[in-house]
Amino acid sequence: TGLVTLDSGYGNTAAYKSAITYLDGEGGVLRYRGYPIEQLAERGTFLETAYLLIHGELPTVDQQASFKDEITRHTLLHEDVKRFYDGFPRDAHPMAMLSSVVSALSTFYQDSHNPFDEEQRHLSTIRLLAKLPTIAAYAYKKAIGHPVVYPRNDLGYVENFLRMTFSVPAAEYELDPVVVNALDKLLILHADHEQNCSTSTVRLVGSSQANMFASISAGINALWGPLHGGANQSVLEMLQGIQASGSDVATFIRKVKDKEDGVKLMGFGHRVYKNFDPRAKIIKAAAHDVLSALGKSDELLDIALRLEEHALSDDYFVERKLYPNVDFYTGLIYRAMGFPTSMFTVLFALGRLPGWIAQWHEMIKEPGSRIGRPRQIYTGVVEREYVPIESR
Ligand code: CMC
Repeated sequence: TGLVTLDSGYGNTAAYKSAITYLDGEGGVLRYRGYPIEQLAERGTFLETAYLLIHGELPTVDQQASFKDEITRHTLLHEDVKRFYDGFPRDAHPMAMLSSVVSALSTFYQDSHNPFDEEQRHLSTIRLLAKLPTIAAYAYKKAIGHPVVYPRNDLGYVENFLRMTFSVPAAEYELDPVVVNALDKLLILHADHEQNCSTSTVRLVGSSQANMFASISAGINALWGPLHGGANQSVLEMLQGIQASGSDVATFIRKVKDKEDGVKLMGFGHRVYKNFDPRAKIIKAAAHDVLSALGKSDELLDIALRLEEHALSDDYFVERKLYPNVDFYTGLIYRAMGFPTSMFTVLFALGRLPGWIAQWHEMIKEPGSRIGRPRQIYTGVVEREYVPIESR
């Protein structure tokens, strides 16, 4: 097939040029628009990080205020969108609800279908950022059978989401600043990661000039898988499994090394990071801080720490350069905050949304941008003669 070369899993193929996220896998470096992730997580906010990713610069005071104001005014869902949730089974996975409802938004905003209309692109951006927390909170309320809680304009982005998720009509809801700050930080750490599976999916779908809602709905589905964003749920289930079987970490590690039933150490390994994942470093420290600030102890954290210690001193993991990734410790924090395991990947999606949007914009605006269309190496029969059914 001429010049076509096989690159399994696109390990070596750059499909795009991008000025959004800089990632050095050997050095464990991650920067958004040049700003180190450590500084953004320590000193920035999620909304200004979203602005940075999408617009290329940190917002001024005025820009930040109008961005926040616009988002706040779009947080409400159309009442007919709410009725989608009535149709979902109670035990539906919230990621399926999330992608379905985001896809359905394109039926409500039919003005969004032309990706070359700059004003509409902006409106879709604001609508998505504003509505995804509401969509996510409604999915949680559906699962537990509680009435939905409408967004409130006087609250910040994370505060609003927490209140829509955890408050009930019968009681006052008090926001815990420890939880607000930790969630804000976690969202920043998830906000972009160059051409990962879900972002590449958003770009690939968007390259056909499909609208932003359609493209991002596809990204949400890509994120759901356990090798990608779904790993945070899988890590917690793995830790619970180890706990239930007597907390024997060494036996579990042996199973992983023997590749017994395809068991993997979830939350470990990364296609690009080969020394450490800078996000995991920050998150590990945050897990300790949040648990102690909330006055919680969790046996699963001890199991995670022992697993990490075992793995990092084992040749199998050392030779393959496998280290904890972003998903290894996040679940423990989400659990301490009160989220059920099924919501973990939804939180990842809330964080990754600005990255998906920024990458979609960058692609649409790139002069000469072409439809994504990978090639293949054909391995089937080259040609044969049709045989009538009675002769087969
Ligand atoms: N546990 C055990 N072995 C592993 C693991 C793991 N977590 N990850 C990779 N390996 C082994 C793999 O079996 C292979 O060994 P061998 O050479 O003997 O066949 C070798 O390491 C290379 O792995 P690979 O599958 O070729 O690596 P990849 O770059 O294709 O996959 C990965 C990257 C992240 C999908 C993979 O490391 C993995 O499945 N990790 C567990 C799932 C996970 O934590 N995913 C979250 C990734 S970070 C956040 C995100 O992207 O959402």
